[in-house]
Amino acid sequence: MYPESIIKKFVDTFSAEPAITVRAPGRINLIGEHTDYNDGYVLPASIDKAIYFAISPRTDNECHAVAFDLDSSTVFSVNNPVASEHSWCNYLIGVVDELQKAGKKFGGFNVVFGGDIPLGAGVSSSAAVETGLSFALNHIYNLGLSTLQMVQVSKAAENNFVGVNCGIMDQFASMFGKKDSVIRLDCRDLSFEYFPIALPDHVVVLCNTGVKHSLGDSEYNTRRLECEEALRTLASIFPEIGSWRDVTFEMLAEAEPLMTEVVYRRAKYVVGEIERVVVACEALLQNDLGTFGRKMYETHRGLQHDYEVSCPELDFLVEQTRENMAVIGSRMMGGGFGGCTVNIVEKSQLDSFIAGLTEAYRKEFNRELVYYVVALTNGTEIV
Ligand code: GLA
Repeated sequence: MYPESIIKKFVDTFSAEPAITVRAPGRINLIGEHTDYNDGYVLPASIDKAIYFAISPRTDNECHAVAFDLDSSTVFSVNNPVASEHSWCNYLIGVVDELQKAGKKFGGFNVVFGGDIPLGAGVSSSAAVETGLSFALNHIYNLGLSTLQMVQVSKAAENNFVGVNCGIMDQFASMFGKKDSVIRLDCRDLSFEYFPIALPDHVVVLCNTGVKHSLGDSEYNTRRLECEEALRTLASIFPEIGSWRDVTFEMLAEAEPLMTEVVYRRAKYVVGEIERVVVACEALLQNDLGTFGRKMYETHRGLQHDYEVSCPELDFLVEQTRENMAVIGSRMMGGGFGGCTVNIVEKSQLDSFIAGLTEAYRKEFNRELVYYVVALTNGTEIV
């Protein structure tokens, strides 16, 4: 159905074929949560759920945009990027605004976009809208942006126009993803490495709580402020600290009396998670899935109790997998307060895993469990 339905809608709406069609994928993250804005490491990958953009330049300065899945459309001027009453539209206007702030000159465009990334599920549908449009405009207007610059424009759109002070992981993964690989990104200097993951006997399964994470945006911004406060306190006693990467548990113990109990727990989570990603990556290289999975469970615990970004539905889904020998690891994924858990599960046991979890979830919350077995794909590209 995708991208054909998007292209068809474009042709029906604008009576012409699109100049290009772009595929911008969602992302998973195996480990390294809430570390991107704390100068830590993350381990994301782009997946086979994407937003597609059928797009053509116009000869005037108007943007005519259709959000296919929402059955909604709007017109705005690229010369006047002001916030729209349609919240979906602000992702597009934000990208236009950031490109202009970067000094890029371009005209209007016709666009239809839509896809199969579940909304509000922590799989970065919003980042995909931003990376897809940055990529498409860069291409049709020859703006000369590097891949990293497109990531930065997309992230800035989310920060400045949408108002979520997110880190760089989602846009980076959506843009830089590579088939069958996860990306180990060092968020301090943006260096990265692809880790091919061959999991011949396992699958990556996302289990969607069905709880939309909309409440999370303000909490997300609060977590950032708490982390900044913790780091300032740490640096006040240890001037050699330049970023979270220089913080040890010993330093944290010394700084603890100067922090509120809440801020201390946030800091404890961050230091622990930065260390966990390093250990988990080493385990992955050694094909030691057991250690990798244990680290995923530890991450969940930290997010649940110290960082406090989980919710009862996420905790329940993770808890249910603990005794299941077919599950290597499970944890909540993304910003939190809803969305999906990410699970590494033995392929041969997938059906019973899903059946067991579906029944338990229904019984506990009277909700149907929606799940996705995901494949790792290339990042944003022309199709
Ligand atoms: C959201 C943000 C990311 C990242 C994750 C948590 O997805 O957009 O930048 O901080 O939460 O790891």
